[in-house]
Amino acid sequence: MKEHQMKLAILNQLSKGGFHSGEALGEQLGISRAAVSKHIKGIQQWGVDIFRVQGKGYQLAQPMELLSEQAIGDALTTPFELIPIIDSTNQYLLDKQDLLDSGSVCISEYQAKGRGRRGRQWVSPFGSNLYLSMYWRLEAGMAAAMGLSLVVGVAIVEALQSLGINGVKLKWPNDLYYQDKKLAGILVEMSGQAGGAANLVIGMGMNLNMSEQVTGIDQPWTSLSEVADKPFSRNELVVAFIKAWHAALEDYELRGLHGFVERWNQHDNFLEREVKLIMGAREVKGIVKGIDATGAVLLETERGVEAYVGGEISLRKA
Ligand code: ATP
Ligand code: BTN
Repeated sequence: MKEHQMKLAILNQLSKGGFHSGEALGEQLGISRAAVSKHIKGIQQWGVDIFRVQGKGYQLAQPMELLSEQAIGDALTTPFELIPIIDSTNQYLLDKQDLLDSGSVCISEYQAKGRGRRGRQWVSPFGSNLYLSMYWRLEAGMAAAMGLSLVVGVAIVEALQSLGINGVKLKWPNDLYYQDKKLAGILVEMSGQAGGAANLVIGMGMNLNMSEQVTGIDQPWTSLSEVADKPFSRNELVVAFIKAWHAALEDYELRGLHGFVERWNQHDNFLEREVKLIMGAREVKGIVKGIDATGAVLLETERGVEAYVGGEISLRKA
């Protein structure tokens, strides 16, 4: 068994709940208690809270529903790969795009090098969040790529609503917020252009039940467990998001952003609020008026309503 497969086998046992002695785990896996203890330390480094009680053994601090290839596969007709330990689900699809059908998905339990925009880190502990990427061949070409994070954002908010989870908002161009805290981020990356079509990878990281102990996030954040008023299933969420993305992306290919603008504006976290747009050294202040038909953010400034668009813009509360 490869190193991390041993850790995954231990996690599989622990995810059943209750205490598991080092001895019993060792016997199940054919390794020593000392080896179990070493693997437990490795699992803790993936961001999983495990505690040990003398005479009883190890237990997860929080219940954990692992992602299940079977459960997801049974509910989907489209291709996906579940790779529990990965560098980055976006990078994985970028690297193998030549072998993929449009709409193929990669999901993971843990990313060693999860990333956000402009090379920033996406904190990706094991088992408590979602890391989901989809390869999409956009026939309309690069010019249409800007709309993707908007379309996918709307699809996620609406999929959550259909599961009875309300109140999640959108921050232009690529984030999901709840009560002014970051819940999820979307990252669209290009893997090349073939003829007129653009090869894109769309990735989302969403916090589901992330431990308060995590470090490395320099802004207020939250988890879906804070939003939902009843328990949810990670596997069901994955399925719901993949289906919603497929439907939204197909719709976008046919009709463009048109059908999404109003829906996006309905969920805008900053609608009618004062913000600043940061563009390198330049800053513009104004009141947010939603997005326009091109996906640009509309800002009411002293000069009137202005439209801003481009990958290098960051929106912040004024
Ligand atoms: P903008 O894209 O508008 O500049 P941003 O600050 O959200 O906004 P991004 O590159 O989109 O920047 O996202 C990366 C940032 O997200 C990181 O710098 C960090 O502050 C934050 N972050 C990283 N991991 C998580 C996480 N798991 N949950 C919430 N926020 C996170
Ligand atoms: C952002 O807010 O900047 C976007 C964060 C995107 C994170 C997701 S997690 C799945 C996919 N793989 C990555 O490395 N990044 C995206």
